[in-house]
Parts: sequence; structure tokens; C-alpha cells
Amino acid sequence: MTEQHIIIAIDGPAAAGKGTLSRRLASRYGLRHLDTGLTYRATAKALLDRGLPLDDEDTAADVARNLDLSGLDRSVLAQHGVGEAASTVAVMPKVRRALVDAQRAFAASPPGAVLDGRDIGTVVCPDARVKFYVTASPEVRARRRYEEIVSQGGSAELSAILADLEKRDARDAGRTDSPLRPAADAHLLDTSEMGIEAAFEAACVLVDAALRN
Ligand code: DC
Repeated sequence: MTEQHIIIAIDGPAAAGKGTLSRRLASRYGLRHLDTGLTYRATAKALLDRGLPLDDEDTAADVARNLDLSGLDRSVLAQHGVGEAASTVAVMPKVRRALVDAQRAFAASPPGAVLDGRDIGTVVCPDARVKFYVTASPEVRARRRYEEIVSQGGSAELSAILADLEKRDARDAGRTDSPLRPAADAHLLDTSEMGIEAAFEAACVLVDAALRN
């Protein structure tokens, strides 16, 4: 890696605004972007599509090892059921090892990258130049997800979305291997009140300061 190689790690629970923030930061700093949630989603979807069990660790790890990161597409992987299945396969250490290897290879290639997920600052890229932990209250996250679904012409029940998010948070934060938690040196960005745009501006100030050092 060169002096110029920059890795920005972004973690946080579902629907906190990590995706938007990561894409904006990648574009601002000329970095590549990997939404690592898609790697877990693609693994889960490949198992579902082939009628394979979600709870067989060796089979799931085999699928994870053969994943092509260049073909990840959120529009294909966005369905609710795929997210649930992803959270289930994500508890398996062999699956995580395979996907973390691929994520690290992505991060290592020049000029650097923004990675977002649950364990980027703690496990995948503990030496990242800047780390953020993006969060918001469950109610605000549920409302954002609800509005996203409705704006795309779908229908949903706000209380069901909230219950789902809380279940997913508990699974992601409660697993033994690489649970969702902020790295000790992560900057906390709570987007409940400030909104994503203000969070982006705040993040840029912190990244600029880190790049000057
Ligand atoms: O961010 P997302 O909803 O696309 O992620 C789907 C699931 O993948 C999430 O519930 C937990 C898992 N995940 C993970 O365990 N580690 C990551 N770095 C990213 C996602």
C-alpha cells in the first residue's frame, strides 16, 4: 500500500444512512466503494435460488468463497427476505472468513476504498485511516425505510418494519463472531436529528482532518 492509500470504514445498524454516506464519501475522495452487506446478501440469495439450506455452514462458505464481488447489485438483492437470510448466514464464522478475505482484497487495491457494514472498523479493516459508526434511533430508521418503500410505490406497515429492524439489530449485535459494535476509535454520527446531508458534511470535516495528519 502507498502513502496515499486511504481506507474509510463505516459501520452501523440497518437503515442508519451508511449506504448514502459511503457513496457520497467515495465520490468526494475518489475512492472505490463496497457495501459489504451485499456480500452477505448475495451469498444468502445464491443459497435460496439453488434451494440449498441456509444453516449448512460448509455449503454456505463454499458459496461465499466463489462470490464475484463485481456482480453485486442492490436492486436484485434488496428484498426483505434476502436481508433476513443474509443476517442468518452472517452468524457463521466460515462464511465470514471467506467474505472478509474478499472484502480485504477489495480494500487493498489502489487507490483505497470506503467499506460499509457491521464489522469494518473492528475486524475487516482495523487500520482504516478514518472510522465512522453511523446510527439513528430505531424509530427514525424504521420511518426512513417505510418512506423509501412507499416512495417506490410499495406498501408496508411501520410497526412491522420497526419490529423487524429491532430483531435484525439484536441478531447482528448479539452474535459471537464479529458482532455489530463501534470500534474504539470510531467517530460516532447519530443521524436521528441531523439528517444524512449534515452527517456527510460532518464526516468530510473529520476525513479532511485525518488526511492532513
Ligand atoms: O446492511 P445490510 O442490510 O445489507 O446487511 C445484511 C446483513 O448482512 C446484516 O443483517 C448483517 C450482515 N452483515 C454483516 O454481518 N457484516 C457486514 N459487514 C455487513 C452485513
